Amino acid sequence: MAEVRVICAIGKHGQLGLNGRLPWEGNPAAPYKADVQRFFDLTKGHVIVAGPRTFRSFPDWARRDRVVTEIHATDSPRMVIEKYSDRVVFVGGGPLVWKAYAPFISHWDVTRLPYDGEADRYFDPIWLCAG
Ligand SMILES: NC(=O)c1ccc[n+]([C@@H]2O[C@H](COP(=O)([O-])OP(=O)(O)OC[C@H]3O[C@@H](n4cnc5c(N)ncnc54)[C@H](OP(=O)(O)O)[C@@H]3O)[C@@H](O)[C@H]2O)c1
Repeated sequence: MAEVRVICAIGKHGQLGLNGRLPWEGNPAAPYKADVQRFFDLTKGHVIVAGPRTFRSFPDWARRDRVVTEIHATDSPRMVIEKYSDRVVFVGGGPLVWKAYAPFISHWDVTRLPYDGEADRYFDPIWLCAG
């Protein structure tokens, strides 16, 4: 079985996304820039599986040194993970994806950023104890 992990970033109240993007996207402050850099550093050489909106948010250059795969509700999480049995698989979100894949995740890496604004997607701590 693959090692299955998550790296995500949340705002002060669990904010994850807004209008299909990160709520703090474009904010040049150091914690936001460092978080994005850390995400790409830690996922380099590995596999990321993500829902369609999150998949589309990856720039082309990010697909050169990591495998980025789009997944759908019709895919069995177990079969998606088994496809990469000798790899580290990062489950990239969004929320419905994390909910469905939560029973397989061995490591959650959650950075809490100082963002205090609006969002339409939120982290749900219940994912941490699923399955
Ligand atoms: N802060 C962070 O760290 C972080 C990380 C990732 C994403 N985000 C944010 O989250 C938002 C995107 O998430 P989103 O939920 O809107 O869209 P999404 O990434 O497209 O994820 C949800 C979609 O994934 C598909 N899916 C794949 N496997 C599934 C499964 N087993 N069960 C249910 N659905 C499954 C479904 O689409 P189908 O119906 O087509 O199958 C579902 O509608 C953006 O705002 C993005 O910036 C934030």
